[in-house]
Amino acid sequence: MRDPQRVEEILQSMVKAGSNTVQVISDFDMTLTRFAYKGKRCPTCHNILDNSNLISNECREELKVLLDTYYPIEIDSARSIAEKLPLMVEWWTKAHKILVQQKIRKDLLATAVRDSDAMLRATSSSSTTCMSTASPSIFSAGIGDILEEVIRQAGVFHSNVKVFSNYMDFDESGLLKAFKGELIHIYNKREGALLNTGHFQELRTRPNVLLLGDSLGDLTMADGVEERKQSYLDLYDIVLVQDETLEVPNAIMLYLT
Ligand code: TMP
Ligand code: MG
Repeated sequence: MRDPQRVEEILQSMVKAGSNTVQVISDFDMTLTRFAYKGKRCPTCHNILDNSNLISNECREELKVLLDTYYPIEIDSARSIAEKLPLMVEWWTKAHKILVQQKIRKDLLATAVRDSDAMLRATSSSSTTCMSTASPSIFSAGIGDILEEVIRQAGVFHSNVKVFSNYMDFDESGLLKAFKGELIHIYNKREGALLNTGHFQELRTRPNVLLLGDSLGDLTMADGVEERKQSYLDLYDIVLVQDETLEVPNAIMLYLT
């Protein structure tokens, strides 16, 4: 924490306001899911497809080239968001176009998720507190259908969970033909929220937000870790380093109740 006293004050004022004034807004990939397990990287929604047999080897290669090109840009703290934004749109647009060409079968998505190494963060008894209380909203630049399947298979897709993500559009025979609606990439989640005023209108009685994210990139690559840590500390109240659990947000939610 850059300013523990301020965090303490925020928590105290949330306690005072009551847990019924709190909502959880969370990112998905690498936030609700693990970054790594036993030293091995865990997949993002997109990676689950990349690693599956739902796409051809040629397509896998193309997606890997995209990942190797654009992911370093995503996590490059030397570039401004304004500079990164068009490149991220380019990445997502290219990746989705390639995926659509694969005519992915809807009925095989669950198997791809089951066969993947995707894992929600630690599943100790309290680990689902964030998912079961306070009407959590998940904003993800990943793939909605895959994301839902990951939380469904983990048994925490409660009816109060609201997901904003890129959903697949299938033709009548169940083959992927497009992605629905506006593209959601890592830098336009706010716009997504503004488009969904109805949902947030309902949550207006919960003005206190426990926001969970990893969006300044991740911290495993040794180079630049410190400089990135500083930007995290500047922007988030609490920064967790190498913590593959949801213990802290869960403890906060329990503390508020
Ligand atoms: P998130 O908003 O749920 O964190 O999802 C965004 C992540 O998806 C971002 O860190 C990059 C990742 N991604 C891939 O791994 N492969 C892809 O093809 C694309 C477009 C994104
Ligand atoms: Mg993320």
